[in-house]
Amino acid sequence: MNFLLKIWRQKDRQSRGKLVAYEAADIPANASFLEMLDIVNERLLLRGDEPIAFDSDCREGICGTCSLTINGEAHGPDHPGAACELYMRKFRDGEAIIVEPFRVRSFPVIKDLVVDRGALDRIVQAGGFISARAGSAPEANSIPIPKHDVDLAMEAAACIGCGACAAACPNASAMLFTAAKVSHLSLLPQGEPERGTRVLKMVQAMDAEGFGNCTNTYECEAVCPAEISASFIAKLNREYAIANLHA
Ligand code: SF4
Ligand code: FES
Repeated sequence: MNFLLKIWRQKDRQSRGKLVAYEAADIPANASFLEMLDIVNERLLLRGDEPIAFDSDCREGICGTCSLTINGEAHGPDHPGAACELYMRKFRDGEAIIVEPFRVRSFPVIKDLVVDRGALDRIVQAGGFISARAGSAPEANSIPIPKHDVDLAMEAAACIGCGACAAACPNASAMLFTAAKVSHLSLLPQGEPERGTRVLKMVQAMDAEGFGNCTNTYECEAVCPAEISASFIAKLNREYAIANLHA
């Protein structure tokens, strides 16, 4: 397959970036999007040109490292899935594809398509640790937890921290991410002792990092590769209101 790529190139955090056109010829239809970029980079290197910087690690939708906006959509057109799970057969032969980094003020561009998502780490860090001893595997039935809560906690824990929710949101809100991180612990007894302080500190950190607020556009849910439900944002709001009452 052949494609015309328009890729965001930016030397460093301070420089102005711009879209640069590249031809991607003879790309296997079953190549992943990141493999297609690898092929383009190999050709650039052979020509002595600077390769395109982009992030990846697991390349199987687990780590949340890949962070591309493809034709205006966070992670590209194949939802639910991370950019590394997108295949070139999803595009038309000859199609023009625009590739940009995640566009969020709180995720500054480091180089080309690589952004700094340290803001998400700082939100998690603000939540602190749990004081419940978790050093050894407990007997499976020693902490009875309702099945519904276990399932919900597991759903929330599926968040891979990619930041696509913030990138897709018109308010650059990180509330889906924060809601997932708050919820997976607040639903379990192990997270109970610090439940109130955790949500207050994480929301405070989220605001301090410059993320916007949720106005129910549901763009976050639409692009989330882990299919985190926007209903967790309602849970975050409830947790925050109750914690404020007891603060
Ligand atoms: S909630 Fe979804 S989109 Fe947001 S960081 Fe987690 S996995 Fe990524
Ligand atoms: S590279 Fe790990 S989720 Fe895409």
